[in-house]
Amino acid sequence: MAWNPDQYILFSDHRLRPALDLLSQVPLISPSVIYDLGCGTGNVTALLSQHWGEAIITGIDNSREMLAKARQDHPSIEWQFGDISNFSPTSKGNLIFSNAALHWLDDHENLFPKLLSQLRPGGVLAVQMPNNFSAPSHQNLYDLAQSPEWIDRLGALVRPAPVHNINWYFDLLSPLAEKINIWETTYFQVLKGKDAVLEWTRGTALRPFLAALDEKDAQVFEGQYAERLLEAYPIRQDDSTLYPFSRLFIVVQLPE
Ligand SMILES: C[S@@+](CC[C@H](N)C(=O)[O-])C[C@H]1O[C@@H](n2cnc3c(N)ncnc32)[C@H](O)[C@@H]1O
Repeated sequence: MAWNPDQYILFSDHRLRPALDLLSQVPLISPSVIYDLGCGTGNVTALLSQHWGEAIITGIDNSREMLAKARQDHPSIEWQFGDISNFSPTSKGNLIFSNAALHWLDDHENLFPKLLSQLRPGGVLAVQMPNNFSAPSHQNLYDLAQSPEWIDRLGALVRPAPVHNINWYFDLLSPLAEKINIWETTYFQVLKGKDAVLEWTRGTALRPFLAALDEKDAQVFEGQYAERLLEAYPIRQDDSTLYPFSRLFIVVQLPE
């Protein structure tokens, strides 16, 4: 399933803000080894690099398209092709940062403790994940994919919501942590242009569904989805679309 870097960075301001909010809560002064898991086009990795200029920073992703863009835009950073589920670096991290990536992986019950085990004593795992799987933008996509017209081709792509609630992460991680800082925010994103929410999901949630169809069927599916989105997120008088988007943040620090 290919990512499209150009589509993804269309809303880079909105996508960057949660990363900055996460970064502001990392309780480390000068981490020497940092990993950015699911680094994508590397915009956030570059922020980490600016913030901690002395650190050795590696961005890891399993999309060659995203990594190519990251390499092109930020040649001085170390980029690695790799799957987060197999993340086991030779040098453990002081900071493992992951913005908007871990919701693409299942089995958080094992994944999160495994990531903590790749940190040095006192190290920090800082994670942000979208938590809007029941929002109309996503629910309409899943409902449509499971409708009689599409279920044979798309039904299997509907995953159970990968992100659990705050209490679940707290119970899982607090026994392993010295400190845990966990919160949720809904950003009321003001989007511009026609079919703005569709443009947004084209860069993320909609991709696997379109990738499973030929061009003609993808157009039909997208058209039906666009209609539902317009109903759920009407264009306002000033031509903008208000798109509420919830995100979950977790910052866990290990004991020294
Ligand atoms: C929504 S993008 C976020 C990119 C970047 N962290 C940012 O904030 O701009 C999600 C990224 O996670 C990557 N990804 C998803 N599953 C992955 C996995 N199992 N291993 C490595 N990278 C993964 C995708 O390739 C994609 O580049």
